[in-house]
Amino acid sequence: MCGIVGYVGEKQALSVVVDGLRRLEYRGYDSAGVAVVSDGSLETRKKAGKLANLESLLGEDPLPQSTIGIGHTRWATHGGPTDANAHPHVSEDGKVAVIHNGIIENFAELRAELSSRGVTLRSETDTEVVAHLLAETLPSTNMNLAEAMRIVCRQLSGAFTLVAVHCDVPDVVVGARRNSPLVVGRGDGENFLASDVAAFIAHTRHAVELGQDQVVELRSESITVTDFDGQPAPTVEYEVTWDASAAEKGGYETFMAKEIAEQPKAVADTLLGRVDAQGQLKLDEMRLSEEQLREIDKVVVIACGTAYHAGMVAKYALEHWTRVPCEVELASEFRYRDPVVGPRTLVVAISQSGETMDTLMAMRYAREQGAKVLAICNTQGSTIPRESDAVLYTHAGPEVAVASTKAFLTQIVATFLVSLYVAQVRQTMSQADIDAVVRELSDMPGKVDLVLDTTEEMKALADELKDSRSVLFIGRHVGFPVALEGALKLKELAYMHAEGFAAGELKHGPIALLEDGLPVIVVVPPPGGGAIVHEKIVSNIQEVRARGARTIVIAEEGDDAVIPYADHLIRVPACPALLQPLVATVPLQVFAAAMSAAKGHDVDQPRNLAKSVTVE
Ligand code: AGP
Repeated sequence: MCGIVGYVGEKQALSVVVDGLRRLEYRGYDSAGVAVVSDGSLETRKKAGKLANLESLLGEDPLPQSTIGIGHTRWATHGGPTDANAHPHVSEDGKVAVIHNGIIENFAELRAELSSRGVTLRSETDTEVVAHLLAETLPSTNMNLAEAMRIVCRQLSGAFTLVAVHCDVPDVVVGARRNSPLVVGRGDGENFLASDVAAFIAHTRHAVELGQDQVVELRSESITVTDFDGQPAPTVEYEVTWDASAAEKGGYETFMAKEIAEQPKAVADTLLGRVDAQGQLKLDEMRLSEEQLREIDKVVVIACGTAYHAGMVAKYALEHWTRVPCEVELASEFRYRDPVVGPRTLVVAISQSGETMDTLMAMRYAREQGAKVLAICNTQGSTIPRESDAVLYTHAGPEVAVASTKAFLTQIVATFLVSLYVAQVRQTMSQADIDAVVRELSDMPGKVDLVLDTTEEMKALADELKDSRSVLFIGRHVGFPVALEGALKLKELAYMHAEGFAAGELKHGPIALLEDGLPVIVVVPPPGGGAIVHEKIVSNIQEVRARGARTIVIAEEGDDAVIPYADHLIRVPACPALLQPLVATVPLQVFAAAMSAAKGHDVDQPRNLAKSVTVE
């Protein structure tokens, strides 16, 4: 998620903006830039890398004094983290500067239209189109930047927060938002715009939350908010009570809590722009030709940790939808076992950070064997996608907490999109069946949002179980990787012994572990989709309960078969069996975070762990 700051008032804009960007650094970014308006001219400075790089540039090539400015820290989505792709983006006449957070879904068409009108585009970003469109539109609005922004916003689809300045409109900062946050800070003789309040609470705690499809015109003494048609729009004013550190977490106690709560949006953003109006999957960004996808005779997923569990979920879907055999390999084991890999193997490297050395070394090995590598990654321009033949980015936004949460759900979504696309190309599914799955996937952000409501329940459960010696997790079908993921979360956050099993394996040994009061968390598949599997896991619950286990059952709404055997019953929204990991995992994430907090651990930075393991 990018960081956005705008300022108009009496102070030196540059220091207000750069300080605001520094307070947004936690969001993660890979380039930064600022623009100011001074004496009728627009000046911008921008640089790949951290704020320090921008500040050294500003030291070498200072900006003029100004009391109006905008600033941006970029988390790359379209186009790698380079100086040219950094924001602000400027119109050809050099008079408009724009910064942006989100994804402009129709940017390709807009870029083509602009080029056809002779506009030279200088970056790979979606954002740049807005700067050119504003410059084209402004003259027709009698230099009303807010009106120009409204006209341009009506041409955009996707998710965007936009902030712009124009050197011929020297006392105005204009912002707009759709499906992406933008908040106003109301000051005394000054006003602020930001992607979250952390950027300006050092100056004011009076905040004005902007709503969907709204444009705000900021002057030092006025804040004017309209809808995209120019009608006055309602706003919500409130006092910010958070302290600076809480504000960085958007008011959440931990980054992990914030990132768990961001999962509905992360899933929605990962789906955005990848299905057209006719329901056809659009994944040409992957750069894998249909012919290549027809030629593959095996898929090998390589990953570590949570990403490996996402790969295990992907296997069930990919084989079911495409009939292409799929192996899922721990990256650290893969290249030492002399695997069978060749030119008709598609290797899928799943990695949130894109820097995990085990995964990087495994994919290098696979490429040496002639395999094509598709990266599924959350970090634009990182090493793994850079060295892959193709990439499909998850759009989860930066994941700061070491324990991976929203990355897991978006990795599953991304692998489902790839699997459906392969099925579409190889025609192993009817278009009607693909459409049905795509419709179900588009309902998932709402269902994930619903399951966030289990937070208080899971916190209470964690309090009860915090002194348990161990916790077992069992599941069947895609519930098995979810069980493994739940166990991993508990290990890395609560430092407790936890183990995940395929429920069918219990009787082959692990059932000897059972004793009175031992918590066993059971991920129950939907009764409809996997009826046989459902029956079997209900009997597994009876087996473990008969041996004294304390059963914590995660089952979908309306599944009453489990009621007699559940000491605790956590409900999740009904959804197709293959999609259930997207909702069943969330209570386990919350449970582990709550257990960590109950034990007084650092939820965001657990002991011994790094966010990205860049050593083998
Ligand atoms: C998950 O909570 C852990 N932080 C860890 O297992 C992680 O998933 C693994 O190291 C892989 O990281 P990556 O996705 O960045 O490659």
